[in-house]
Amino acid sequence: MSYLANFRVWRGDSSGGALEPYEVEVNEGEVVLDIVHRLQATQAPDLAVRWNCKAGKCGSCSAEVNGRPRLLCMTRMSTLPPDEPVTITPMRTFPVLRDLVTDVSFNYTKAREVPSFIPPAGLKPGEYRMQQADVNRSQEFRKCIECFLCQNTCHVVRDHEENKPSFSGPRFLMRVAELDMHPLDAAEDAGLDRKRTAQEEHGLGMCNITKCCTEVCPEHIKITDNALIPLKERAVDRKYDPLVWLGAKISRRK
Ligand code: SF4
Ligand code: SF4
Ligand code: FES
Repeated sequence: MSYLANFRVWRGDSSGGALEPYEVEVNEGEVVLDIVHRLQATQAPDLAVRWNCKAGKCGSCSAEVNGRPRLLCMTRMSTLPPDEPVTITPMRTFPVLRDLVTDVSFNYTKAREVPSFIPPAGLKPGEYRMQQADVNRSQEFRKCIECFLCQNTCHVVRDHEENKPSFSGPRFLMRVAELDMHPLDAAEDAGLDRKRTAQEEHGLGMCNITKCCTEVCPEHIKITDNALIPLKERAVDRKYDPLVWLGAKISRRK
């Protein structure tokens, strides 16, 4: 079954733009990215869109469909009302380069600010042993395809450019949480307190656990429940642990 549908696609660049109306054919089984490709092939050859896999795995086709952050290649046309215009806009949190393509380098900057796994002393790769439960915990976070839809959705930065320097966003707080929970990560031995950096450098305290990031994650990672809330609990435990408090007091006296 084919039908003609109305679309409004944001066209423009960093200096400004507007929604442009288009009427495009839709066929059974198609996703929004198919429509964007048909638009490029028939009416708007210069329409810019970023995509690679068309299988929900590369994380590059992130945009907003009817105002909701989505992967264009995983949004079936059959899930959208056929008699209403479909609006396609670029992710709002990141600067527009052109049309549906945004500059997501904010995320690469934040990624570089999280120190990587620190191997334990005296063990070579291949000698690491850990409980299956710990492996499973990390595996969930490792499903991330870096689409940055969670980063785009989080209200801490979505309309607050001023918060970007001090907030790493859910994807990278999740990375800190993963490493902090890793039983073999030797950060503390190396003098790195990941809980402290989560609070002081990555803005964990600005997250008020609204779970909007979790709702848009195409990999269904429970970002808030399994990463952010446990990290908050661990950071608070550290801050209010009476032994830590006593230790800090004694070292201050020294
Ligand atoms: S749970 Fe935290 S990180 Fe996720 S959207 Fe809400 S404030 Fe942002
Ligand atoms: S956590 Fe989910 S929403 Fe966020 S970047 Fe990874 S896959 Fe995308
Ligand atoms: S094109 Fe790869 S996730 Fe959509």
